[in-house]
Amino acid sequence: MCMVIFAPLFAIFAFATCGGYSGQLRVSVDCINRSDSNLSIGINFAYPFRLNRVDFDVPMCEGRRQERLYLIGDFSSSAEFFVTIAVFSFLYSLLATVVYIFFQNKYRENNRGPLIDFIVTVVFSFVWLVSSSAWAKGLSDVKTATDPDEVVLLMSACKVQTNKCNPVYGPRWSGLNTSVVFGYLNFVLWAGNIWFVFKETGWHKGGAARYPAPSSEKQATAFNQQVYNQGSFDQSGAAFTGTGDFAQSEYSQVGNYASSGPVSYTNQ
Ligand SMILES: *[C@@H]1O[C@H](CO)[C@@H](O)[C@H](O)[C@H]1NC(C)=O
Ligand SMILES: *[C@@H]1O[C@H](CO)[C@@H](O)[C@H](O)[C@H]1NC(C)=O
Repeated sequence: MCMVIFAPLFAIFAFATCGGYSGQLRVSVDCINRSDSNLSIGINFAYPFRLNRVDFDVPMCEGRRQERLYLIGDFSSSAEFFVTIAVFSFLYSLLATVVYIFFQNKYRENNRGPLIDFIVTVVFSFVWLVSSSAWAKGLSDVKTATDPDEVVLLMSACKVQTNKCNPVYGPRWSGLNTSVVFGYLNFVLWAGNIWFVFKETGWHKGGAARYPAPSSEKQATAFNQQVYNQGSFDQSGAAFTGTGDFAQSEYSQVGNYASSGPVSYTNQ
């Protein structure tokens, strides 16, 4: 139940805080010749953090001349990976919620639902860990690359002692810090859910009896045979009496159909 409420919510927080981010830093270049100065140079950047495409013009403190500079680094891969995982995680958890609530019987029908759910949950928790770690590293690099103290080092005017270059303010990081926290929270949530989904697969001792696994061919075949003998299921029964691996999974399906369908007929 935890999963149903928090998984879509945490995924939204993760991709909204990262994907919706835009930040600004500001520096000042105070030339020895005051008329050349620019005391308010604003630099804007945003998701997906291709900083090497963020340009800005700064005075060179040589008359009216300006130079065009770029920030350093491209952190789009880790940022986009993170957001992509968050979006898929959101979509899957919505789908899972719909299935749990409206298709509970179908989900349990032949154990395929819990099995797929288990695999997807393991994959998502692993991928959340990887993408959160990658994005945490990416974010720390973005912070360095957009640190006003670092940015002024790129400017040729600032290499001359007589000109004064100062950071005015740096970007606000609370949104992106939140995105990393939510990335790890998503990991914890999905990893914690592995156990609950595992129980649904019926692989641990208690659940095995409740939801027979597809591998229990004998049981399903016996059941099918019994139903077949009763003559209430002859057509589909005959269709699946062929042997071989392909028929194996079909047997268990027929067995399950039989357990819900024809048995109730005979009871009437
Ligand atoms: C200072 O730089 C900003 C860009 O950050 C620009 O819009 C503004 O016109 C510049 N001011 C002067 C006086 O050159
Ligand atoms: C300062 O700049 C103005 C115009 O850019 C120029 O006329 C003047 O000669 C410069 N002064 C010095 C000391 O470089």
